[in-house]
Amino acid sequence: MSRPIDALLQEQRRYPPPAEFAARANVDDPDVYRQADEDFEGFWARWAEELAWFRKWDRVLEWHPPDARWFVGGRLNASVNCVDRHLATPRKNKAAIIWEGEPGETRVVTYQELARQVNRFANVLKALGVRKGDRVTLYLPMIPELPIAMLACARIGAVHSVVFGGFSPTALAQRIADSGSRVLVTCDEYYRRGERIPQKRRADEAVQMAGGIDKVVVVRRTGANVPMTPGRDLWWDELMASADPHCPPEPMDSEDMLFMMYTSGTTGKPKGIVHTTGGYLVGVHATTKWVFDLKEEDTYWCSADIGWITGHSYIVYGPLSNGATTVMYEGSPDWPDKDRLWSMVERYAVNIFYTAPTAIRQFMQWGEAYPRRHDLSSLRLLGSVGEPINPEAWVWYHRVIGGERCPIVDTWWQTETGMILITPLPGITVTKPGSATRPFPGVKAAVLDEQGQPVPPGGGGYLAILRPWPAMLRTIWGDHQRYVDTYWSRWNRQTYYPGDGAKWDEDGYFWVLGRVDDVMNVAGHRLSTMEIESALVEHPAVAEAAVIGATHSIKGQVPVAFVILKSGWEPSEALERELKEKVAQVISPIARPDRVVFTPDLPKTRSGKIMRRLLRDIVHGSALGDVTTLRNPEVAEHLRQAFETAA
Ligand code: PRX
Repeated sequence: MSRPIDALLQEQRRYPPPAEFAARANVDDPDVYRQADEDFEGFWARWAEELAWFRKWDRVLEWHPPDARWFVGGRLNASVNCVDRHLATPRKNKAAIIWEGEPGETRVVTYQELARQVNRFANVLKALGVRKGDRVTLYLPMIPELPIAMLACARIGAVHSVVFGGFSPTALAQRIADSGSRVLVTCDEYYRRGERIPQKRRADEAVQMAGGIDKVVVVRRTGANVPMTPGRDLWWDELMASADPHCPPEPMDSEDMLFMMYTSGTTGKPKGIVHTTGGYLVGVHATTKWVFDLKEEDTYWCSADIGWITGHSYIVYGPLSNGATTVMYEGSPDWPDKDRLWSMVERYAVNIFYTAPTAIRQFMQWGEAYPRRHDLSSLRLLGSVGEPINPEAWVWYHRVIGGERCPIVDTWWQTETGMILITPLPGITVTKPGSATRPFPGVKAAVLDEQGQPVPPGGGGYLAILRPWPAMLRTIWGDHQRYVDTYWSRWNRQTYYPGDGAKWDEDGYFWVLGRVDDVMNVAGHRLSTMEIESALVEHPAVAEAAVIGATHSIKGQVPVAFVILKSGWEPSEALERELKEKVAQVISPIARPDRVVFTPDLPKTRSGKIMRRLLRDIVHGSALGDVTTLRNPEVAEHLRQAFETAA
């Protein structure tokens, strides 16, 4: 493996937990790591004790690599854990969900009310013929009916497959067909940037394409007059009105499926990642409580969409299992203005806020004036997830949003891992901007080379997880071989391969560099696109940058940068030279971009990730592949023109 370029490891800033925070933290003893490591099964079993079981497990773990079974023989129900068990406590009338629609209306759903709705909808599903093990596809925006429908599925043992509400009909159809769902839950329309999005129309198209759907349940969100197919389409509110509010929970085996969630792999076909009941719930319960330092009185807000794993684990199951108050927002962060999220933080006195680096960079670009309009003093902890966070964005988040008083938890995990695996524990971890720090207690990770040998500190290699963890995926729906091949075949059957490049340092901190397909090899030197992007973003003119490795006849690859400028800056040759110089300076002359292409926008997936594949296609002059999953498909053609003009 070639010599790594250590720009990130040169990050010298250190942020110890603030004394006041540490004094009240849920975890204040660094010895938790050693204890969990000595007996990781015992560690997870202690967490499992916090849940409600119909029947306790016989064995914590059965590990026949790469197949794991957790809490073997145990029986439980996720909806009981997220709802029923809070009803006999003072949480009964506590807000479970505080929801705000984009036009500004709010709904507060207490645990008691959530119980009634979940039970009713569970009975609705039963009446529609849904049985244990059946898949139900949910195609909904961020409205309370989404978590209600998920928990209702869980109550009767049906498997939910939530498809992000912003996905295209084609993407939805593909997922319906692959899952074999017969029931689809959707809504008439929803609000986004002041517009009404015709969800039912898109759902109809998908149902047509996919086939197999017998019943479509339609939530009334805007009250629009949408076409309803007689015998197939039914209104949510009408079904709920006549449904019994008592539905006995199905006692699920620990290893029964709880849900599936599609995610993209290296091929065109999305993978249905399968999560089961007991281990998943234990994993998200534990990490929510410790990573977010969740307290009874907290208002917790994860600004992700429930259509992604982050929303499943850290808006729905983790927070509700802990009896927390979780905030949900339907709309866009810049509607009606760019301070919407900060206005909500102020109005709901949010204590814990969890978002993605791409959002943070967007906030940076919009400027400090927006958060400054609001009182953000309720915040006490900030989180980041989804991609490597560049140190400048981390420091900005810490200073402007966190008022220099909130620890930041940079949490590394994946759809497949189900739960956070690498993260600070905010009461004890000294954080370094750009590092997700250390594996959660009980989790064992390493940075390995091609041969599976640990690389020395400072070196780069592949992130690897060395031990099973409770919320791990169990298979890929309908394709167990792909599960074995993709995740457990890089080195051996016992070592999980996440597909990320990483480094670790002399303190054992992990620096996740991004997907290995985004790692370049420039003249024998290993470079991460993210390191170069991070360097570019340090320049005052740059709002956002995406770097890809372009094929080069002599060097193998060279970096090409696509750059969005902050308002007030104009593209020029002088600026291009300056930016190249900046990278050369911050990282090394080897990292100097071959080209800098100025662009007003970057191709982003609906989860906010830059689609680098498309940038590579543009740079290499190849046919642009599938752009249907882009939030802004029109940007592809603009970029191609910008690239060709700049050449
Ligand atoms: O590359 C890593 C990146 O996101 C990938 C997983 O994506 P997804 O399954 O969509 O789940 C995102 C939300 C959990 C990982 O392989 N990633 C996620 N979190 C981080 C990260 N990269 C660096 N730092 C993180 N904190």
